[in-house]
Amino acid sequence: MKALILAGGAGTRLRPITHTRAKQLVPVANTPILFRGIEAMVEAGITEIGVVVGDTRAEMRAAIGDGSQFGSDVEVTYIEQDAPLGLAHCVSIARDFLGDDDFVMYLGDNMLEQGLVAFVDAFAAARSAPRPPSAQILLKQVKDPQRFGIAVLDDHGHAIQLVEKPEVPPSNYALVGVYLFDKSIHEAVAAIEPSARGELEITDAIQWLIDHDLKVRTEILTGWWIDTGKLTPLLEANRLILETIETRVDGAVDGASFLDGRVIVEAGAEIVNSTIRGPVAIGARTRIVDSFVGPFSAIGADCEVVHSEIEHSVVMDGSKIIEIPRLEDSLIGSDAIVSRSKRKPRAVRLMVGDHCRIDIE
Ligand code: G1P
Repeated sequence: MKALILAGGAGTRLRPITHTRAKQLVPVANTPILFRGIEAMVEAGITEIGVVVGDTRAEMRAAIGDGSQFGSDVEVTYIEQDAPLGLAHCVSIARDFLGDDDFVMYLGDNMLEQGLVAFVDAFAAARSAPRPPSAQILLKQVKDPQRFGIAVLDDHGHAIQLVEKPEVPPSNYALVGVYLFDKSIHEAVAAIEPSARGELEITDAIQWLIDHDLKVRTEILTGWWIDTGKLTPLLEANRLILETIETRVDGAVDGASFLDGRVIVEAGAEIVNSTIRGPVAIGARTRIVDSFVGPFSAIGADCEVVHSEIEHSVVMDGSKIIEIPRLEDSLIGSDAIVSRSKRKPRAVRLMVGDHCRIDIE
């Protein structure tokens, strides 16, 4: 079995961060979102991984490389998508890489609590049954089904109807961004027409399978699933991953500092006269001085936090937070400076890029 990871999407809802960074490489608990997907593939025994890349191809190649950082037998093939023409378009341009093999397709900005082993094994087992499924989709009940692809199931748990972002949803089972296919998906993808949003929808291709009497197996996710493309879900994913960390202190913590709860302090980091209340991850070579870093914060590498309070936030590599009384629910990009002088008048001075959002209370 092969894997196809889709990492071409532009990430408009995470601007300005995504002006300079691929949304799939935004860190959650200090690890790029996409890396967790790749690790889940490798854990499920998949080593031939195709990555569909778009405008952020150079950054993707720099971050993922040849894949050997994920395992010595992992081999990554990059597939270039020139325009964002849909998920099913990704399958068609990956045809040479995929050959006639079964594959898992994974949307690079999705995060799942569960690994992929059980899903891959279940598909493999079902494939050796008398009338094997051609596809397997993962579903999760959601409160806002208009935002997703939606599936209707029969009494045996097989999908009988799929609709992409329906105005009047026929069910609340959303298609999670993980799909398993056999080679019949290629015929489906070649047969469908672009949707109203001008994309070749994988949802339509799976509907084509159903219409051609091919079986589409379903699995209902029990753990959490987050489509991280926006600020609030991204912070939620950060929180959920931080909830799973174990304490590890490789950096230096002085006698005036206090670590409470589960905290990771990477090598070369320094905690000086500060309180860190976990779960928190502090990146390599970062300095936290006279500050409080509260639950569900991930501070990247080479940052400086001085005389500030931070909680429930992601601060990316190389940024400085200086004299900020309280920073909450925030996503700070890399090499950014957020500071406040001690002198009066205490004016707000800004150099703000396009699509930024600043809330001052
Ligand atoms: C895509 C799929 C949709 C699926 C969703 C999961 O939507 O088209 O069926 O439910 O991913 O994240 P998009 O992110 O392209 O809006």
